[in-house]
Amino acid sequence: MGNRVTETCPFDLATASHWVFLYQGNKRYFEALPQPIAARVNEVIQAQIEKKLPEGPELCHFDNYPEVLIVPLPQKKGLDENDRIRLVASQALQVLKGRALKSLVWPLQGGNEKEFASLVDGLGISAYRFDNYKSDKKQDKKNPANPEEIIFLRNGTSHASDTQLLTDFASLSECLSICRDLVNIPGSDLTPQKFAERAITLAKSNGLKITVREDKQLSKEGFTGLLTVGKGSSHPPCLVTLRYDGRDKKDTKENKADHNKHLVLVGKGVTFDTGGISIKPSAAMWEMKCDMAGAAAALSALCAIAKLKLPLQVSAVLCLAENRPGNGSVLPGDIFTAKNGKTVMVDNTDAEGRLILTDGLWEAGAIEATHIIDLATLTGAIIRAIGPSIAGLFCANETFSQVIQESGKVCGEKFWPMPLEEEYREYLDDSVADMKNIGKAEAGAITAALFLQEFAPSNTQAWAHLDIAGPAFITSNWKYFTPGATGFPMRSLVEVARRLAKES
Ligand code: BES
Ligand code: ZN
Ligand code: ZN
Repeated sequence: MGNRVTETCPFDLATASHWVFLYQGNKRYFEALPQPIAARVNEVIQAQIEKKLPEGPELCHFDNYPEVLIVPLPQKKGLDENDRIRLVASQALQVLKGRALKSLVWPLQGGNEKEFASLVDGLGISAYRFDNYKSDKKQDKKNPANPEEIIFLRNGTSHASDTQLLTDFASLSECLSICRDLVNIPGSDLTPQKFAERAITLAKSNGLKITVREDKQLSKEGFTGLLTVGKGSSHPPCLVTLRYDGRDKKDTKENKADHNKHLVLVGKGVTFDTGGISIKPSAAMWEMKCDMAGAAAALSALCAIAKLKLPLQVSAVLCLAENRPGNGSVLPGDIFTAKNGKTVMVDNTDAEGRLILTDGLWEAGAIEATHIIDLATLTGAIIRAIGPSIAGLFCANETFSQVIQESGKVCGEKFWPMPLEEEYREYLDDSVADMKNIGKAEAGAITAALFLQEFAPSNTQAWAHLDIAGPAFITSNWKYFTPGATGFPMRSLVEVARRLAKES
């Protein structure tokens, strides 16, 4: 897509097939319209304001002019201004689906950079489609829901940064699609091995260093968390470490390379979670193909960070395993010694994410992380606690916690601070081993985080754990997302890296 920004705005921009007008209340964002269009636009807006027309996108047809889509800014609760714009973008593409959509002209209001960014972001997010598994893709080809190009129209002077913004968002949206594809692919088609192969390909194309430890190497080095979870499956586990070093990127005034910080993203990558011997009920078990969403977000965020050339050291550690019952499966009651020497009794084989993360956290320490974020579809309990739209954020470092929350706000991703309540640590006490892997029925998301805390390396400035079980994967429409993977929290991670790179 050759998206671009222009200041010249004859209404009949030679190639345009469609124009979109956004309005909010009485605000109009474009003035010099040909008379018949101006009249119709005003009519529609007035009718919607007076509720004579249902509020929503309205497509108008004219002789000799492009089709015009008039969209009110949605007033849905719980969306901030940026999210409203993202939603508008997806509503517009939704309405235009099936039209002969070639070139879309989208007039901007003017000075507001954030609004432009959210619009481009929203268009990127809603252009995503997962149709690899549809036998008949002709339908989609005949009626592309995505325009060949989008021309953003500045009503006034354009900004030097416009083109940069478009390129940056093109990279982000490409990596977001990579993330969503990984999560949407069925479990049998994305085993730990296949996931690692994709990581190798992505490392090559993005200039990242990569280490893949397969099961033999894991045994040699004692990565027992991954081995314990993976041993019931014929698809062996592996640990993938990818490294990006942006410190040698040219320093600019605003973008001063920070030579000390090393952000490490540790992702839970359970390519399918049956629960193991503590097997899950069959209803909705298919959704557990999403149990590698943390690893997918870590990998794709790192690719985006590399494409954006952020002046910072960032790594991704992917803990890949399949959790399945089998002849060799770990049994409830089994005890293993984790990489840091602590012994763990596996009370429930379905609490597997925290077991593989013991290895990921160890690896983060070994490569000398200063800041760790682990990402995991870790507990159903977090969904019961704060619902499906919000991720739980566990972080004892107030500054880092703020960076993550603020980054989320910019991206329309919500992180809610949760307590690492020491009082509940005793729920994990075991009579034989140092600890067991589940607590009581209460505070399940917190005890999972407390379990992880036992394995967070001590040589790290800050560690944050994100429980993304709610928003990473959805089964019905949500905001500007269609059912399936959302890519949550990949976009926020890139923003976190951006902010860490800027701080000195
Ligand atoms: N992968 C699940 C958590 C999950 C639930 C992710 C819903 C996405 C949506 C995790 O491995 C799990 O099974 N957790 C158990 C823990 C329990 C056995 C202590 C859970 O939440 O029920
Ligand atoms: Zn599980
Ligand atoms: Zn799981």
